[in-house]
Amino acid sequence: MNNLLSLDDIDVSGKKVFLRVDLNMPMKDGQIQDVSRLDASIKTLKALKEKSARTLVVTHMGRPKEKESSLSTHVLLPFLKEALDIDVMFAATVDNAKTSLESCNDGDFILLENIRFWKEEEQGDSNFSKELANMCDVYVNEAFSVSHRKHASVYTIPKHMDTRIAGYNLMHEVSYLQQLCHTTDTTPPKFILSLVGGSKVSTKMKLLESLLTMSKLVVLGGGMANTFLVAAGKLKPGNSFYENDFLDDARDLLSRYPLKILLPIDGVVTDSLDNPNTTMALDIVNVPAKYSVVDIGPKTIQMIKDKCSLAHTILWNGPFGVFENPPFHSGSRHIAAILAEATREGTTTIAGGGDTLACLGPLKDDLSFVSTAGGAFLEYLEECTLPGVQILYENYV
Ligand code: 3PG
Repeated sequence: MNNLLSLDDIDVSGKKVFLRVDLNMPMKDGQIQDVSRLDASIKTLKALKEKSARTLVVTHMGRPKEKESSLSTHVLLPFLKEALDIDVMFAATVDNAKTSLESCNDGDFILLENIRFWKEEEQGDSNFSKELANMCDVYVNEAFSVSHRKHASVYTIPKHMDTRIAGYNLMHEVSYLQQLCHTTDTTPPKFILSLVGGSKVSTKMKLLESLLTMSKLVVLGGGMANTFLVAAGKLKPGNSFYENDFLDDARDLLSRYPLKILLPIDGVVTDSLDNPNTTMALDIVNVPAKYSVVDIGPKTIQMIKDKCSLAHTILWNGPFGVFENPPFHSGSRHIAAILAEATREGTTTIAGGGDTLACLGPLKDDLSFVSTAGGAFLEYLEECTLPGVQILYENYV
C-alpha cells in the first residue's frame, strides 16, 4: 500500500540532498513557541548526518509577501545545531547554497533562507526549479504539512530530479491516513468512525463527502452540526449559529446518508456566549429559539462513547463546541479523553487540524497518531493523496 522509498532504500553517502522540511513553527517576539515540527523531522535529519549526505535544508516560514527579516530562517540555526550536534551553515542566496554544497564535507548541513522569499517558489517557476534541482542529487520530502501546495520546493523541483524519496515523518503521516483511504481493502471492511466538528459546513463539504464514503458512521458536532439539525427540522432556527446558505447541502447529505450521519441529541445552551446568565443542557428538540447551542450535552457524549467502543479506527477533526470559550470546551475535552481511552483499548485513533490539537492538549500523546499538518491533513482526506506526495510515487529511478 505505502510503497514510498525512504532513506533506508538508497545510498546518500557523499550525495547532495535537497531536504524539504516544514519548520514553519509558531513565533512570538522573535522566539519559537513550539518545536513539534522540528521534533517530527529529527529522525530524518539525523539519518542524513549518519549516512554522510551533504544536506541543503529548505523550509518556508510564514507567508511573506517580500523579504521580511522577522521571517528569516536564520532564527532556526541554533535549533538545528543543537538537534544535530554540528555546526550548520547558512545560505542567504541560491549561489551561496551551491558553493557551500560543492565545498562542504560529507555529513554537513546548509540551511537555505526562507524559500518563500523567492517569488518563484509559490509560482512553481520552472527555471528556478531547474536551477535548484541541478544543484542536488537526491530529493527528500519531509514536509507533509505543505505537500498540498504545488510550490517549487514541494512539486516542481522534485519533478526535475530522478531520485525523490520520502522522509520518515511524511511516511508515517501517509501510512496512517492511507488506512482511512483504503477501508475497503480489508475483509470485512474496518469500522471507521469519523468525528467531525468545527463551526462551518461551508469549508468542510468536500471533506464530509469523502469521510462519508470511507466511514461506517460520521458524528457531527460544533457549529456545523447546528446547520444539519436545523436542516433536519430538529433545532429551531434562532440564536444558534448555523449557515442558512448550506441548509440544502445538509439536507442532501442527510437524505443520501440517513443511517451514517449521527447528529447531537442534546446540547449545552446559553443565553450569552460572553456573559452567560443561564447555561444548561437540553435535548436539541427542546432548545428555545432565544438560546444558542454552544456545546454537546451529556447524552451526546455518551452516544459518542458507545460508538467509539465499537470502532476499529476513529478519526477526529474539529471542536464539538465553542472551544475557545472555556465553559463550552467540556464536550471536546470529553472526546479527547474518550479517544485516549479507546487507544488504550487497542483502537487506532487519528486526529489532525490546528483546533483539534488544542482540544487534545496533553492527551495528544495518548492517541495512535496526531498529524503535524492542518490544511494538508484535510486535503489528504479529501483526495487520498497530495501533489507533493504523488510526485514521490511517479517515475522512480
Ligand atoms: C502550515 O503551517 O499549515 C504549513 O506550514 C503550510 O503553510 P501555508 O498554509 O502557509 O502553506
